[in-house]
Amino acid sequence: MTLMIRPPVLALAAGLALAACGQRSAEVAAEPVVLKAGMQEIADRQNDLVNTLIEALDDQGGVDPAKLTEEHWGTLESAAAGLRDAGLALRAGPVQVVAAPGEAIEGEDAPGALGAAEVQARIDQDPAGFRAQAGALLTRLETLAAASNAHDAAAMWEVALDLDAACSGCHMQYWYPE
Ligand code: HEC
Repeated sequence: MTLMIRPPVLALAAGLALAACGQRSAEVAAEPVVLKAGMQEIADRQNDLVNTLIEALDDQGGVDPAKLTEEHWGTLESAAAGLRDAGLALRAGPVQVVAAPGEAIEGEDAPGALGAAEVQARIDQDPAGFRAQAGALLTRLETLAAASNAHDAAAMWEVALDLDAACSGCHMQYWYPE
């Protein structure tokens, strides 16, 4: 029964994915990515990725693939695919820091911290630099997605450990005050 309905369901899913993909690239060209929402999505998916892999660590701190269940793989695959999509959108730009005027960004209340308008101005002054930072993240996310497709948990862990460098590279340049 399950096997009989599988092929059409998969074909439908593939069709929907293609349609969604086409729509997304059209939207990206027309409308800016809201950075705050995109960042929160990236952070959530990174948490899913890291927490799931941590559950499979062995005593030496390496991933033991035998500890990964089908459910784990479901979470890992969707985290990797979602991160890659978010990375693509981030690099495609243009970027709008917040969705609405007056909306705050994280940490804005701290003494000396930049507000949304100031971060926006930094990005607008140097969009190519921003895209380069997004590209550095995307390179890692492409590797992550390929490792996920190959069910190579050790390679995924390697990328997971290296992700923060790409996050903070951009954050230091555009978010944190000098
Ligand atoms: C290409 C640049 C760039 C990269 C790469 C990047 N970020 Fe950001 N991120 C920003 C900027 C600029 C801000 C400040 C504006 C804002 O908060 O929306 C920010 C803010 C955030 C915030 C706070 C969002 C809020 O509520 O205001 C989180 C969380 C975050 N980033 C997580 C991440 C993580 C995790 C990664 C790496 C996996 C990452 N970012 C990679 C540019 C980047």
